[in-house]
Amino acid sequence: SLRRSFATLTKGLRPTIRQLLSQSSQASPTTPIQVNGWVKSVRRQKRVAFAVITDGSSPLGLQAVFLDPALARSLTNGAAVRLTGMLANSIGAGQAKELQVHTVDIVGECNPEILTTILSMQTYPIQKKALTTEYLRDHCHLRTRTDEGASVVRLRHDTLNALHSYFQAQGFCYAHTPLVTSSDCEGAGETFRIGTLLSSQSSGDKEADKQPPEFFGRPAYLTVSAQLHLEALSASISRVFTISPCFRAERSQTGRHLAEFWMLEAEWAFTESVDDLCQVAEDAIKSTLRQPSADLAALQTGMDPSRAKILQDAARPDRWPRITYTEAIIELEKVQASRRLFEFPVGWGRTLQSEHERWVAEHLVGGPVFVTDYPTQLKPFYMRQNVEGDTVACFDLLVPHLGELIGGSLREEREDKLLQAIEHHGLNLEDYKWYVDLRKYGGAPHGGFGLGFERLISWLSGIENIRECIPMPRWAGRMLL
Ligand code: 4AD
Repeated sequence: SLRRSFATLTKGLRPTIRQLLSQSSQASPTTPIQVNGWVKSVRRQKRVAFAVITDGSSPLGLQAVFLDPALARSLTNGAAVRLTGMLANSIGAGQAKELQVHTVDIVGECNPEILTTILSMQTYPIQKKALTTEYLRDHCHLRTRTDEGASVVRLRHDTLNALHSYFQAQGFCYAHTPLVTSSDCEGAGETFRIGTLLSSQSSGDKEADKQPPEFFGRPAYLTVSAQLHLEALSASISRVFTISPCFRAERSQTGRHLAEFWMLEAEWAFTESVDDLCQVAEDAIKSTLRQPSADLAALQTGMDPSRAKILQDAARPDRWPRITYTEAIIELEKVQASRRLFEFPVGWGRTLQSEHERWVAEHLVGGPVFVTDYPTQLKPFYMRQNVEGDTVACFDLLVPHLGELIGGSLREEREDKLLQAIEHHGLNLEDYKWYVDLRKYGGAPHGGFGLGFERLISWLSGIENIRECIPMPRWAGRMLL
């Protein structure tokens, strides 16, 4: 009868466990509720049994109390269950509310005995004992069943919300850019080429089969950055941003590189100073450092205190320091001469390697730092040439324990200088005609930046490797599922 009365009471989506546990929950202690979720743990005693139920909506599970322990007899870790009962204030420590369970439905068994004994199938791999990072990467379809794996997904969600709110409050329009492109924005030769395979099979349509072998009629690539397309949009919408997957055929097997990652990119017109670009980047990151995320708090528990302090300090209103590339090189050269700390050589005109970036952020500054005005030869064709020195008007945001988190620049809006840069980089002008057009027709000074989303999650959470900061990572030699 309880089940019947419950059925008449509920329509549509039922509250999640997060909603039930929230202060503003409407659940009344006299009305039965239904909770759907998975069993995280079961504890059986003589007269009572307890289980923690999670539906993934919150880092906290719901404590379920079985005053009749027989009800909990068939519960196993990982099983999908539907429980009905009354939500009551809890007398136990650590949780405000608990579910006093009246009925139990196992809607999806986990490791039913028949499978393990008769078919000798594997037991449920997500066990209480600590599982290695490598093991969880091999089982990434189950990784989000661990506390950390689930927290990462929710932290991504919360952080995206914080970034959306920040950019929308600043008058930016969220826009969509293509994933299939004809250009290599960064010119690093790391594009994945696509689109030729379909044409080698007959489509069954004679006319279609006569078409050129390229599916798009020209070489096509997966995007490495939305920037060039965003520039086109910013030349009419003024302030735009996007959050898009990017693909790079990166060979480097580091904890900072993925072949498929997400980037937040912002682009806006009528800006003429790198300092302004840095300010927007800084405020955007600060909005994520200050977000009220239970998962961020959960992931930061146990973080090295010195690391946690850097994050706390970074959230303060004080402006993050800005130094030029040339100043950074002078400091790096000094330390290299006296202490020979680095594996890679240091010198003006050389790339800052990750070890150099980290030293600047961790030791020279002790927090996030903007490094500006890199040598022209180190940067892509679209960056605006500075009046003095052979440098461009750009910045990288470097943060402790990670290195580069953001890259951005003013864009070359002067048509003649842009044409020179296209030629200098050996690019085919035909491919960039539309891009040059943007300068011809009311080309305002403009600029923007790209923020590596997994790197941000890594920095905020203290999770060392960005392969753990995306649910299903792809890198050279690895693509499960
Ligand atoms: O410095 P990058 O290459 O800059 C651009 O792509 C610009 N077009 C962005 C713009 O101005 N709109 O990349 C920007 C950021 C890096 O700072 C880094 O955080 C991240 O993207 N990133 C990667 N993250 C994970 N895996 C990779 N392979 C990455 N490559 C870059």
